[in-house]
Amino acid sequence: MQRCFTLTIVRHWALRKKLFTISYQQSAAMSTLLINQPKYAWLKELGLSEDNDGVYNGNWGGKGEVITSYCPANNEPIARVRQATMAEYEETVQKSRDAWKVWADIPAPKRGEIVRQIGDALRKKIKVLGSLVSLEMGKIYVEGVGEVQEYVDVCDYAVGLSRMIGGPVLPSERPGHALIEMWNPVGLVGIITAFNFPVAVYGWNNAIALICGNVCLCWIVLICVRACSNRIVAEVLEQNNLPGAICSMTCGGADIGTAMSKDERVDLVSFTGSTHVGKMVAMLVQERFGRNLLELGGNNAIIVFEDADLNLVVPSAVFASVGTAGQRCTTTRRLMLHGSIHDVVVERVAKAYKQVRIGDPWDPSTMYGPLHTKQAVDQYLAAIEQAKQQGGTVVCGGKVMDRPGNYVEPTIITGLAHDAPIVHTETFVPILYVLKFQTEEEAFAWNNEVKQGLSSSIFTKDMGRVFRWLGPKGSDCGIVNVNIPTSGAEIGGAFGGEKHTGGGRESGSDSWKQYMRRSTCTINYSKDLPLAQGIKFE
Ligand code: UN1
Repeated sequence: MQRCFTLTIVRHWALRKKLFTISYQQSAAMSTLLINQPKYAWLKELGLSEDNDGVYNGNWGGKGEVITSYCPANNEPIARVRQATMAEYEETVQKSRDAWKVWADIPAPKRGEIVRQIGDALRKKIKVLGSLVSLEMGKIYVEGVGEVQEYVDVCDYAVGLSRMIGGPVLPSERPGHALIEMWNPVGLVGIITAFNFPVAVYGWNNAIALICGNVCLCWIVLICVRACSNRIVAEVLEQNNLPGAICSMTCGGADIGTAMSKDERVDLVSFTGSTHVGKMVAMLVQERFGRNLLELGGNNAIIVFEDADLNLVVPSAVFASVGTAGQRCTTTRRLMLHGSIHDVVVERVAKAYKQVRIGDPWDPSTMYGPLHTKQAVDQYLAAIEQAKQQGGTVVCGGKVMDRPGNYVEPTIITGLAHDAPIVHTETFVPILYVLKFQTEEEAFAWNNEVKQGLSSSIFTKDMGRVFRWLGPKGSDCGIVNVNIPTSGAEIGGAFGGEKHTGGGRESGSDSWKQYMRRSTCTINYSKDLPLAQGIKFE
């Protein structure tokens, strides 16, 4: 029997022989593809078939390796995708750049109209695409639909923005001169996103980059989701007689990701994934003085003070640590509890953990699904072992579940030191480390002492403390919350974080600036040539 390999990048690329290496999971036997089973006939509504094209640049293609995508809930094969060869990558970059010449000439509000149509096309497929996200990524159905909703929302946001972006007219010190700021698109935006938000994070980049006048080329791990969402976007472009290469994709191995990072023709590389790989991408892009937009790891804390409303704390901690099976960059990994409420909160959160309904992610009553890969299961077990060795006590969970698929028990570990190495490590699994603190100063310091700086929350009713938390000596993260969890950000704000989280900002607020270049323009409309700073050069 022909051996079949599946691409199982664990949220990121790993360094091995070449710069980036993909680990392959060998399938024991080729069972029937899910796409052929009547139960999954709905997949065809998305244009998915047994073998799918993994390249789009106006034409569909894929002459490279054939990859099978597996469902993490049962490890059964969904469908196959033909990946890009390097020659197809070259062709796609060229076509994208040609497409830019057309797209850049279209006025921004008209580009916004195309993005509006993309949002509407996604709305029509929201349930079916959300179901595919659930099937291929493993997140629960409502979260799968939720992330398509996030793409729809950011399209709406981008439509409005397409009539608002621009720079100021500044006062010139020289008579008869105008000083204006112009914002132009950077050109070609390479989008590399992680497995955990294959639609939403792509969407944040895509919608905003498009209205700014850029074309997009994406590389993403979740091949079926990518092929189907690209089909939705491509149909809108084609119906409007626009070049499809405005939104290209090249599914492929690490060679494609590396090529994109090194490629001078890719003006901005927007990378979402691990800090480890983000650093490699950043170095390659920096070496050619390209632009990066990095949204990397998090090690997010919820801090609960003695005056907190525990009826908010418990569901928040459960949603943010168990939700998406701990596979969000915003997942709560550290729960810091004031000594006076430590035991009661641990007891209540542990009780809530036991009520989490575990099952098939696409079953609407399920709250918790599998991890995305088998490697993640190994990482989960290794982290639990390390936590025990470093002094932790497992109060809940800690085991792999005896059922098909990559299921592990959501886990709570107490008793570790705030600076234990495992507490400072982002393991992308549902393990929550509970820490006990006594003072505000201590808790804020512990929040900030990790390398990452993505998301953070406090629970308190003390307004003074709230403003200290938001201020210069408070949280050093990009997302700083009060009385809500660390995860589940809205699209209207800028999303991203500091330090090893990479510093990039995507989605709302003025994140659009990351996709544009600024020119300071001084125009002399007088008959004289006065110099700035009063210099006389005569
Ligand atoms: C991510 O995990 O990479 O704030 C993105 C959240 C989501 C986005 C997460 N809106 O949890």
